[in-house]
Amino acid sequence: MTDAWSLAVRRDDLAKTELRDDAVPEIGPGEARLRVDRIGVTANNVTYALMGDAMHYWDFFPTTEGWGLVPLWGFGEVVASQADGVTAGTRVYGYFPSASHLVVRPGAVDETRFKDASEHRAKLPSPYNSYTVTTHDPAYDAEREDLLILFRPLFFTSYMLADELEDNDYYGASVLAMSSASSKTAYGAAFLLQGQGPEMVGLTSPGNVAFTESLGCYDRVVAYDRLDELDDTKPTAYLDVAGSADLRDRLRARLGDNLVRDVVVGVTHQESGGGGGLAASGTTFFFAPNQMRKRTGDWGRTVLDQRFADAWHRFVPSVEGWVDVVPHAGPEALRAVWLEVLSGTSSPRVGHVISF
Ligand SMILES: NC(=O)c1ccc[n+]([C@@H]2O[C@H](COP(=O)([O-])OP(=O)(O)OC[C@H]3O[C@@H](n4cnc5c(N)ncnc54)[C@H](OP(=O)(O)O)[C@@H]3O)[C@@H](O)[C@H]2O)c1
Repeated sequence: MTDAWSLAVRRDDLAKTELRDDAVPEIGPGEARLRVDRIGVTANNVTYALMGDAMHYWDFFPTTEGWGLVPLWGFGEVVASQADGVTAGTRVYGYFPSASHLVVRPGAVDETRFKDASEHRAKLPSPYNSYTVTTHDPAYDAEREDLLILFRPLFFTSYMLADELEDNDYYGASVLAMSSASSKTAYGAAFLLQGQGPEMVGLTSPGNVAFTESLGCYDRVVAYDRLDELDDTKPTAYLDVAGSADLRDRLRARLGDNLVRDVVVGVTHQESGGGGGLAASGTTFFFAPNQMRKRTGDWGRTVLDQRFADAWHRFVPSVEGWVDVVPHAGPEALRAVWLEVLSGTSSPRVGHVISF
């Protein structure tokens, strides 16, 4: 490979990949070139690709017709800059393409972050456009970069989901049942919600029950094929991270009127259209940037950043024992990890981190 590369995936067949040699992108006035240094891949990235058209995730990093660059979270470094206030050598956390480089047009620059104000990103949700400078990030810890790579956007979602539930008195539920309970987003939320009032029940695949129980952040873990173990007399809110229509239907049948809330958070089970059956009445979407916007208004950004950082620092000692970080290097490794995570064969204990 040359110094610059990209890993493109077919939008209509996410297992079809193309590793391309690219030229290092030039920058002009007002722009900066970032080099992608270290990123993670989880089911969340597969969801970005799966929902790439519907939710415009393909629009962040445009490439050739019919192909997409999968958005990935991690660290990058400013390697050249013609933008005011952004200097070469700055290390940032943010949203990167599956490629060696990203050219940004920094806007709203301050010492803590800048956003990519490029025109094609202007209409996309702002949290994805923000690059956080590590030296002014209350959640940053150089010793724990891998955990931030894997968990930051997921735990932010966990935090915002827990906050939204608390903010709404858990919608009157005395039980919170969460699917794909073995996923990082789900168990982060369970960590925050356990002991707050409602019973925390994790729903997972039979093969992931033991792992999910071992975390200790669920009061009870129920396999997808044992929904009869759920108490149908208690008002229950369903936090749906799996996005499976079949599971949702079976839960509705089991709980009847005691299913008081049905919120889609994710689509780990990869049903096209984003968790089939969503048109059915009573289902709502949870989108972390919406609750983030509300809390930025209520508390201000600085307080939100600090509260998130405090929650993160409480979470880290636990999560360190829940995940085995598996390091990889280079674009070929990225391709292999992408295909593995896409296939759903990764153990929930594994956290893939790739350096370039
Ligand atoms: N709404 C939002 O704002 C928001 C924000 C962040 C993330 N999310 C979503 O939350 C979900 C979880 O993401 P994550 O990165 O935390 O996941 P992760 O840790 O990589 O989750 C792994 C788990 O997902 C399930 N899974 C993964 N691939 C599968 C497949 N091919 N078939 C069946 N099950 C599969 C399995 O759980 P089980 O066996 O327990 O089902 C597996 O143990 C994603 O859909 C993500 O997009 C939503």
